[in-house]
Parts: sequence; structure tokens; C-alpha cells
Amino acid sequence: MEYYAIKGGRRLTGEVRVHGAKNSVLPILAACVCCKGVCEIRNCPRIADVDTAAAILERLGCRVSRQDDILTVDAAGLNGCALPPELSAAMRSSILFLGALLTRCGEASLAPPGGCALGARPIDLHLYAAGRLGGNWEQRDQCIRCRWERPCGAEIRLRCPSVGATENALLCAVGAPGETVIWNAAREPEIADLVGFLRAMGAEIKGEGSGELHVCGGRPLHGAVYTVMPDRMEAASYLCAAAGCGGDLFLKGAERRTLDEVVELLARCGCQISEERGGLRLQAPERLRAAGRVATAPYPGFPTDAQAPAMAALLRAAGTTAFTENVFENRLRHADQFRRLGAKIDVDGSCAEVHGVPTLHGAALEATDLRCGAALTAAALQAEGESRLYGVSHIRRGYEDFEGSLRNVGAEIELRSAT
Ligand code: UD1
Repeated sequence: MEYYAIKGGRRLTGEVRVHGAKNSVLPILAACVCCKGVCEIRNCPRIADVDTAAAILERLGCRVSRQDDILTVDAAGLNGCALPPELSAAMRSSILFLGALLTRCGEASLAPPGGCALGARPIDLHLYAAGRLGGNWEQRDQCIRCRWERPCGAEIRLRCPSVGATENALLCAVGAPGETVIWNAAREPEIADLVGFLRAMGAEIKGEGSGELHVCGGRPLHGAVYTVMPDRMEAASYLCAAAGCGGDLFLKGAERRTLDEVVELLARCGCQISEERGGLRLQAPERLRAAGRVATAPYPGFPTDAQAPAMAALLRAAGTTAFTENVFENRLRHADQFRRLGAKIDVDGSCAEVHGVPTLHGAALEATDLRCGAALTAAALQAEGESRLYGVSHIRRGYEDFEGSLRNVGAEIELRSAT
């Protein structure tokens, strides 16, 4: 079993490169099957979830090849519309093949998706969107089957602005002739990235970045070349890691406009953050001030994916910070792990009060999900002595060369194998 051996107490100084966004590239890779052409996806990160998406594409009959950070998908040979159950279960984004396959073949079959355990994570809104556009679906024996008899544009009103359901609705809507309006759509920048890609394929879509998306469906789609946006959550993770240990870090490729809430929080705690050519610089004081209140919300609110990394940054801050998790019902599991390092945290339902302590100490830790893994690493980097972090596979799902990037900026972190 692999683990990170981390010796804390070093400042992070230097430059880290931000890679392509995981949450953009996964819907974009699913979207590749919407056409019979060749798509060239640039700035594609080397992460395990991309490997899973590539494996799904290959199992469906697509040809996938990689050269450096360009992934090429040739979907001409698509010869199936059923996802292997083990690949459906390997990540949440497998559900996006539902919409993409409906658009391409008029049917799709897949097992319920996997992904980080953050709560119940239902898929009712995904199925509702497909149903509104003419899809008949049934779920039996751990298999969801959906068939399009007469696809047709329609109004889709989402109960909450789900990122994945908005993406699935878009992927269906481009294939359903007529106009579709998606109300209460998610406004995350990754939605705009998917819209950019679908538009490059020939789709007609308006309104990205707002809660109201208009799609003129049924237009012929073709292959496209597209560059994935930088990963704002990878950037947020490194910003928080550097903030927690008094670092001075330049994040090459990070975009300020997608990181407003995180930057404002870290500035409130005493960090200086400036936009420099080609990226963002963060300079942190030796000890942060507590942040008062942090409440997660859909974009443009404080991102739920940055909640654990921000908490890691504030474990040693002077004063108390109150976190409220409003997006997922079970996303404070890292609090128990932080306590092993000596952190003082009171959890009550979806709220966690972090009372900053002057020092943390090394401990054995277990990552329970992707962002939790990045946050525990950031916390261990502040702790005196050595920590062991298990569950590294979670981190690999979404961070390219995480330990190498941290080592380059002064962290003492090594990947080891336990026998
Ligand atoms: C995406 C991101 C994830 C991020 C999350 C919220 C990807 C691959 N993952 O996940 O990193 O944490 O957005 O920003 O892009 N919901 C329902 N029914 C549904 C779908 C969602 O009730 O059919 C609820 C969820 O349980 C959750 C809320 O909606 O409480 C938001 O989830 P959603 O935006 O769908 O997250 P994901 O797309 O799964």
C-alpha cells in the first residue's frame, strides 16, 4: 500500500504549475463521443480520472492517444453504448456518458457512478434532464438504461444548480432537435468550458456563466481542437498549502477570476495575493489570522472543493474560524483526521469550528476523498515531526504529480510503499 511520508515545518517557496482542470476535462472527454470526428484536447492533465475516462472511451470503440499534454479522441469507430460497470463505478463523471451517448446513439446503459463519498450524491436530476428531452429510462439490478424514442428540446428546471446535471442536460440538449432552456443551471467556470468545447464542435448554446442556458439542439457536430481551462481547485489547494506554512508561492497558470472567494478568504487571513504575468503569487505571514465564517455555496460562492484545503490552512491560525458545508451533507470527515495532528475542531452537523492551535504534530492519516487528501497533506506539511498519509490513490485521481510539485517548492514529502 502506498503512502506519503511527510516531514513538516518547511515553508513552501518557488513555483508550481497549474494543470488542466479535472472537472472540465472529464465532461469534455465524455462530450467527444457526441460526434463521429476527431477531437484534440489540449492541456489535458495526467490524472487517474482521465485514465478512467480514456478507458471508457476505448471500451466504447473510440481510439485514444496521448502526446505530452494533448489527448486525441477519435470517436468514428464507436461500437457500443454500454459502459462497463467497473468503469462506471470508478468515478462520478462516468454518468456524463449518459447524455453524450444519447446524443450520439439514442441509447445508453451504465451502472450508478462512483466518486468521492461526500454524501448520498443522487442522480435524479441527471435522469430528469434526460427524461425531459425524450429519454425513457429504467434502473434495475444496478444498471441504468435509457433510450431516446423521439428526442425533442424542452424546458429543464433544476431543483438545485447541480454541476453534473447541468453538464448532462447540455450533452443531451445538443442532440435533441429544437430549443432547450436549462433553468437554475450551475454557473461554475467548468460549465462554460464545456460550452466552449461543444460550441467548437458546432453546437449552438447561449448563457454560460448565468443560471439560464439556451441550446438550439440537433445541429451536426464535428471534431474540434480545444484547450482545457486551468484547474482552479488544484490552484486553491496549493494556495492553501502555502498559506498554512508561511509560504511564498507562484502558481503558474492560475486564473484570479475563477478564484475570487478563495483569494478573498486568504487575504482576510493576512496573505498577500497578487496577479503577476502568467499566474498568481501568494505570500503568507508566519501565522494566519482566523477567517471568521466560511460557508460553501454553488459558484460564485465559496467552493465546497476548497473547504478542506482552507480548513487545513487555518488549523494554526490565531482565533476561531467557523466553517459551514452547504453543498454536500457528509463533507467534514477530514476534521477527525486533522484532530490526529493536534488540531482543535468542534463539529456539529454541517458546521465545524476550528480553534487555531500554535503547533501541530505528526501522525498517521487516512485520506477519505480527493480534496481531503490534498488538505491532509497541507496540514501534515505544517506539523512538527513525521506524518504518514494513506489513501494516496484518492489524490492521484485529481492531482498531477502532487508530491513532485510540492517537493519542487521545498516540501519534504516522499511516496513510499508499505509492505
Ligand atoms: C461536481 C464536481 C465536484 C464538486 C461539485 C460541487 C465534477 C467531476 N465534480 O460534482 O468536484 O464538489 O460539483 O461543486 O465536476 N444533487 C442532487 N441530485 C442530482 C445531482 C446532484 O440532489 O441528480 C445534489 C448533490 O447531492 C449535492 C448538490 O446537488 O448536494 C451538488 O452536487 P453537484 O453540483 O451535482 O456535484 P457533482 O456534479 O457531483
